[in-house]
Amino acid sequence: MKPRLVKSQREMEGRFEDVWVLVDEEDEVETWPDDAELGIVGSPTIRQDGPVRASGAARYTVDVQLPGMLHALVLRAPLARCRVTALDVDAARAIAGVRAAIGPDAPLTIEGESPLTAEPAWAGDPIAVVAADTPEAAVAGIAALAATFEPLAPLGLEAGLAEQRFTEEPRENVRGEPDAALEGADVRVELTFETPAHVQSPLEPHAAVARWEGDTLTAWVSTQGMFDARRELARRFALAPEQVRVISEYIGGGFGAKQGAGVEAVIAAELARATGRPVRLALGRHEEQVVGGRRSWTRQTVTLGARRDGTLEAIELAAVVDMGVGGWVFPVAEPALSLYACPNVRTMVFPVRTSLRAQNAFRAPGVVEGVTVLEQAIDDLAAELGIDPLDLRRRNHVDRDQASGLPYSSKRLLDCYDRAAELAGWESRAALREPQPDGLLRGMGCATQIWWGGGGPPAHATVRLDAEARALVTTGIQDIGTGTLTSARMIAAEELGLPLDRVFARGGDTLPNVYSPVSGGSMTTPAVMPAVRSAAGKVRRILLSLAADVLEIGVADLDLSDGRIRSRDGALDVDVVEVTGKLGNATIDGSGARGPNPDGFRVNTFGCQIAQIAVDPGTGVVTVERVVAVHDVGRIVNPLGASSQAEGGVLQGIGYALSEELVVDPTTGYPVNGHLDDYKVPTIADVPEILVDFVNTPDPNLPNLGAKGLGEPPIVPTAAAIANAFAHATGRRASAIPLTPARVLEALA
Ligand code: MOS
Repeated sequence: MKPRLVKSQREMEGRFEDVWVLVDEEDEVETWPDDAELGIVGSPTIRQDGPVRASGAARYTVDVQLPGMLHALVLRAPLARCRVTALDVDAARAIAGVRAAIGPDAPLTIEGESPLTAEPAWAGDPIAVVAADTPEAAVAGIAALAATFEPLAPLGLEAGLAEQRFTEEPRENVRGEPDAALEGADVRVELTFETPAHVQSPLEPHAAVARWEGDTLTAWVSTQGMFDARRELARRFALAPEQVRVISEYIGGGFGAKQGAGVEAVIAAELARATGRPVRLALGRHEEQVVGGRRSWTRQTVTLGARRDGTLEAIELAAVVDMGVGGWVFPVAEPALSLYACPNVRTMVFPVRTSLRAQNAFRAPGVVEGVTVLEQAIDDLAAELGIDPLDLRRRNHVDRDQASGLPYSSKRLLDCYDRAAELAGWESRAALREPQPDGLLRGMGCATQIWWGGGGPPAHATVRLDAEARALVTTGIQDIGTGTLTSARMIAAEELGLPLDRVFARGGDTLPNVYSPVSGGSMTTPAVMPAVRSAAGKVRRILLSLAADVLEIGVADLDLSDGRIRSRDGALDVDVVEVTGKLGNATIDGSGARGPNPDGFRVNTFGCQIAQIAVDPGTGVVTVERVVAVHDVGRIVNPLGASSQAEGGVLQGIGYALSEELVVDPTTGYPVNGHLDDYKVPTIADVPEILVDFVNTPDPNLPNLGAKGLGEPPIVPTAAAIANAFAHATGRRASAIPLTPARVLEALA
């Protein structure tokens, strides 16, 4: 069959987009059967770049040092809303060592698209930039700008709600007849709950280094999407894509906040163009915490109506979201619409405009917020009905996406409940509420996870095998810290029948022009790994056919595994180098592409987490003692990488539940805790026992691996499970997270 172009869909965090996919049926590889005996895929495998990272040799964007490199610094609005009344750009230029200073009146790259402004609309909005020989000279240059401001009142949240000051039209979604169903329900519960502004806080801040050589631009960017960065820089500087090279070899996390080129790369490239020198722009920690982004504060009211037997009849959700000046309105309503079977649902989302930076994505954006509140209401309903919380969830299980009516491609949520209950000792939960020898109040709570994570085309990979039987896998993956390149290595090694140490997977560079999508939406594994397997499959077929030539035996009689070529009758068993060694300087090359998504299904991920906590009624301190996390994401490629993802998600969820909260001064609109000493991310001392397990059954409807994404799912239910454990332990519901000692004591009073 000749190659065809097929229409398919790609999904990113619940947003669907039509794409054309090049399909070559000769490339297609069957999904490994559930019971296939795989030697590498499915075995815990350390990262190929572990030693480089652990020894400090890995070069992150912030580590890039180039000869003659200048250091850039941004002047930012110290108030949420203000007007710049004076700014002395010439004085900055006159400082020794300053090579360029640009203010809001100079067009930066494309006219009308300058990120610099004289009328800042949010806390930290960029006003001017300086590039200098040293960081110290850049600081002096910023000081010499001697900016003065006329303060303007920040846009407040409650006033914004009263005035209906929205970033876009509020969204209403109605299914069935929620009013009548609520009215007629046997029982109703209502919960109003607030969730905090939650800062991504990546270990490596937003950063870029730009260097021009003639009219080609090389940009090192700490980004989740180097191909998006390349497109954005090419557009801004009117270049062809191949005139821009983006390098993102090591990235210290992004969690959604590092999409595309970012303002940093645009500014660095412009300053580099203006000065003829390479320019580095890396945010400081305070800048990162204030302007890097956030999951927004919400206030949600959930009303549930149910029958006595626990069957959900109606869900109503009203969610107010503090958007800042704009950004994408997250799918906060998605859990109400899809987590449980329910014929009558109304959701309303009110995106209020305020004076913070635009909201940007943060690991499972919207669904974390929605699940955090809905799952507490579900527990309140269970208490009201006297039904075990896990049983109530089982009774309302649903096997299809209720908005589209499409069945899920696979859903093993019921297995997750059972396994999590077993690991957590759910049946002895009641005993936790008996008086404890240490005087603490203990409780256990559960919550359900839903998210997307099916990925989709386009994604490509190439595999090149040399005479020494070493394979190089080339992808467009930017490994944001998850270990996905190691997964690519494992899949190629498995398919090629080579030991792991003969295969290396590379990414982090747009130069080879092998495209992978943004590392977001939990899509890298489900999008890229099938392309890797398909490319390796092509090389395998060629290699076996060459082996048939060299060994003078029919190709159908040959097999390849563990680096050896064997005849099926066992008569022949040779090292693969016996064949590849004849290649000389030639290589065997294969390319592969991600196939289309299946028609007629929705692809989602599911899971259940159970938290056990202890509350000190004297101090209000909450300690998480154990979290059990069981998720269904189809096939697990690398169990070691997968459990590390789950642990990271749980830990971030613990921060959201207990300590992380960006606090804004209402008079200035400026965050007061934009530092890591007072914006409290969990530390190693906060890590509880975390028990991770996976259903690990391949999704039969996904191309060639049956693997879904895992980046986002593990953070989704953690805070809800902790909040439910809190209610179980204390008999009280707080009105907001994080459950700081002050909030806990208030709830207990
Ligand atoms: Mo998205 S929060 O970049 O996975």
